[in-house]
Amino acid sequence: MDSSADETLHIPSDELKACCAALYSSDLARLLLGESFHPGGLRLTDRLGKLLDLRPGKRVLDVAAGRGASAIFLAQRFGCEVLGIEYGSASVLDATHAAEVSDVSHLVRFEQGDAECLTLGNEQFDAVICECAFCTFPNKYAAAAEFARVLRPAGKVGLTDLTRSGEVPPELQGLLAWIACIAAARHIDDYSHFLEHAGLAVNLVEPHDDTLSAMLHDIRSKLFAAELLVKLKQIHLPSVDFDQARSLARAAADAIKARRFGYALFIATKPS
Ligand SMILES: C[S@@+](CC[C@H](N)C(=O)[O-])C[C@H]1O[C@@H](n2cnc3c(N)ncnc32)[C@H](O)[C@@H]1O
Repeated sequence: MDSSADETLHIPSDELKACCAALYSSDLARLLLGESFHPGGLRLTDRLGKLLDLRPGKRVLDVAAGRGASAIFLAQRFGCEVLGIEYGSASVLDATHAAEVSDVSHLVRFEQGDAECLTLGNEQFDAVICECAFCTFPNKYAAAAEFARVLRPAGKVGLTDLTRSGEVPPELQGLLAWIACIAAARHIDDYSHFLEHAGLAVNLVEPHDDTLSAMLHDIRSKLFAAELLVKLKQIHLPSVDFDQARSLARAAADAIKARRFGYALFIATKPS
């Protein structure tokens, strides 16, 4: 199975990760997505937390933690300890600040790191979560193997990500679409394949396709509002190509309506 971004986009994997991190630490991402950067938002994170049986005393690793919204939420909601690993240093700083402001610094920490080569010891965590990021990792076998390595025996992975049913339409094949996770979306069975290849047993695959259309609807409304504010000179977003963003959002909306893309949750367990 092909897991190489290079073969799809002809871009070195470090560059791809850096582009992704830059986009998700930008003001545009915050404007369009809010604090939580995945379909289903914190409601779906809550579902993940319940399925993973999180509670006080449990240690959780949030891989590709973005600006920390899920890690902070899980600590507040379930009382667990969370370490968030994130490629983008700017996001790590923002997330650390957000944990301080939310008064959960005693439970939540963030570090810069790469999902494909975690600088963490073996068998340290009861649960690993990864929301809306796995599909963008150039080496998915390496990332899944890292999840399994840092989990304690009987520990669980909770993953949510974009799925696709056919080929990615040509208008959704560019770099921006990849970073926005659309072009990078995998077939639903591929995620189970990567987790099983790492020695994990997949216990649950749960579709949440509706969350994707709801998120895109929200993004398109915010994009419209942002463009209006720029035209009215109320905000300044010099690096944003609104024509490109608008046509990408339109193409994504059409593909989601045609059920070519969806969103799914996966739970997998490490053998005892
Ligand atoms: C769509 S955002 C999701 C963020 C967060 N999980 C959430 O749901 O709010 C994807 C995140 O993955 C991060 N990322 C991408 N590649 C990574 C890697 N190899 N290691 C760690 N983080 C990575 C990006 O910097 C970005 O913050």
